[in-house]
This record gives sequence, structure tokens and C-alpha cells, in this order.
Amino acid sequence: MLAVTARAHTNIALIKYWGKADSELMLPANSSVSMTLDQFYTETTVTFDADATADSFVLDGVRQDFLATTKITRFLDIVRALANTASFAHVESVNHVPTAAGLASSASAFAALALAASTAAGLNLTQQELTRLARRGSGSASRSINGGFVIWHRGHDDASSFAEPVQVNPNLNLRMLAVVLDHRQKRVSSRQGMAETVATSPYFPAWADAAEAASHAMVRALTGSDFAEIGAMVERSALMMHATTLAANPPFTYFQPETLATLQLVQDMRAKGLPVYATMDAGPNVKVLTTADAVLQVQDQLAAALNAPITVCAPGPDAQIIKEEEVDA
Ligand code: ADP
Ligand code: DP6
Ligand code: CO
Repeated sequence: MLAVTARAHTNIALIKYWGKADSELMLPANSSVSMTLDQFYTETTVTFDADATADSFVLDGVRQDFLATTKITRFLDIVRALANTASFAHVESVNHVPTAAGLASSASAFAALALAASTAAGLNLTQQELTRLARRGSGSASRSINGGFVIWHRGHDDASSFAEPVQVNPNLNLRMLAVVLDHRQKRVSSRQGMAETVATSPYFPAWADAAEAASHAMVRALTGSDFAEIGAMVERSALMMHATTLAANPPFTYFQPETLATLQLVQDMRAKGLPVYATMDAGPNVKVLTTADAVLQVQDQLAAALNAPITVCAPGPDAQIIKEEEVDA
């Protein structure tokens, strides 16, 4: 049997994806733009086994229960249909990122699984086809097939909802610091949180319109040299996304007190002249966008003020196959 291992890096959205237009095909309500991170990734090994009677899923060395394995099976069913095979698979994954803490583990996870599973099944998908496959596992995973900076086009059907790299002015030299205030798993998954928002938040339509326009504005801004313009758009997209959850019924938030304290700290550092902007995803942790020139000073000031691990990230690479080997059943 062929065991294929892929590595994919997480990505953090500069302009957020928050809400689906079609949850079966995983079409988003709006396009989104992200930076792939070099420091956080998932490695996943897939082995199709003609003798297996079900899929198995081991995460970080722990055999996963029926519910977690069912998510993998639903995704592998798409791969099996494409490859015209009925074989079950063994999936083994290791996260080099906190799982389900708002640091985009689902993005690196399903990008790695899409690449490993499609390769193990004998498919030879293009980068663009891989982004569409990864999307079916987790929307944000479509953006983790490519390194650097990426746009996921909203699209209107399976074929048109894909991700691709965008040009960035190398002089911008962007860096992202991840401030891990709480590495525990969130209570409300991204999937559930955005579904509740779409269903009940009167702010949702306004969000989707603004985010679509902001994605295209961000693609333009990334080719320019105005860091402050980019940063302001990044921070605003995050706060607009979180405003939609505060207006949901019942209202909810991913923020913790430390989240707002860190946002305030970033804004204070900015008022004193540092190029820093904050972004938050579906979790309490804060990511800080800055430039390579300022990153050490930003790291020092954050570390002095906060009791939290800080990881400095540069743009990360494409998802890739790191190992292929014949193994016994
Ligand atoms: P995050 O902010 O980490 O992306 P999500 O709520 O979007 O959080 O997704 C978390 C879910 O992603 C987990 O509950 C699990 O279903 C899935 N996941 C995370 N890591 C892996 C992995 N390595 N392999 C497969 N699925 C994973
Ligand atoms: C807040 O891609 O994790 O991180 O598509 O349901 O798996 P599913 O959700 P997911 O949502 C990510 C939401 C976000 C913003 C973003 O990454 O764009
Ligand atoms: Co996620």
C-alpha cells in the first residue's frame, strides 16, 4: 500500500471568510484574502487499504472517536468518488498548531488531507483543483494549498469557488505575530458560529457586501506600498466579523477579556508610532500584523506586557508532499 504524507501550513485571513452561501458545496458568502504562515502546519499521512472495513483517524497520536472520524469519511467520500475507488483509508495527522483554538487548524488540516488523500488515491490534481477539494473539508483550507498571500474567490458553483496566489509588493515585508492567550479548544466551532450568524444576525448581509468589496481592495493594496492602508483594512475586517456575532440571536462572542486588552495594547503601540494592527478569528487569540523592520520591537513590547507565548511568522510555503512510501497492511 502507498502511504502518502503531506504538509500544509495554516493561514490567517486579512479579509475574513465568515458565512456560507452553500454549506453542501462550501461556497462562501464573500471572497477572502489571507497570508499563509511559516510557523504553523499540519502533517497528514493517508493510506488507502483495500482490506479495511472503515476509515480510521488518529490525531496527535490519539485514535479519534466515531464523530471525528465521520468528518474525515465525508471528506474522503469526495476523494473516492473522484478517483473511482471504494477503499477505506488510514489517516494519521499531527498538528503543529493548537487544535480548534482560532489559529486555523482546520485550514492546514484539510489542505494537508486534500493533498495526501488525492495523491494516495492516484489523482493528479492541479493546484486550483486542490484548492476546490480542500474547500469541501473546511472553507479556509482552500487558502492553505498555496503559500504567500492568497485570495479565495467566492464563486457561484464548485468550479468557480477556488483560491489562487496574489501578488504582493516584496518591499512590504509583512510579518504576523500569533499571541496565544488561550490554546484550549473553543466551545463554538467556526462552522457552527458562522451558521448561527448567517441565520440570525441582521448585520450579516452588510458584512458579506463589505467583505466582498474589501477582498478586492486588499488585492490592490497588497501590490502597493502603503502598510497603514493594509493594516487598517485588516483590523477593520476582523472587528466587522466579530460585530456580526454580537448581533446574532442569541448574541455570542469569541473574545475574552484578554483579547480586548491585547487589541487595546496594539492600538496603543500604534498610537506611539509602531506599524501594528490586530486581527482575531473564531477564538480569543490575537494575531498582530507588522513589518520585518518593526517585528523585534513589536515582539519585545508584546512580551513585556502580556503573559502569553508569541510566535513570529513570515509568509509560509505551498502545501507539499513530504513522503511517499510502500508499507505493509
Ligand atoms: P480552527 O480555528 O482551529 O480552524 P475550527 O473550528 O475551524 O477551528 O476547526 C476545528 C476542527 O478542525 C476540529 O474540531 C477538527 O474537526 C478539524 N481538525 C483540526 N485539526 C485536524 C487534523 N489535523 N486533521 C483533521 N481534522 C482536523
Ligand atoms: C474566522 O474555514 O474554519 O477563521 O468552512 O466551516 O470549516 P468551515 O470554517 P473555517 O472558518 C474560518 C473562519 C475564520 C476566518 C477565515 O479564516 O477567513
Ligand atoms: Co477553522
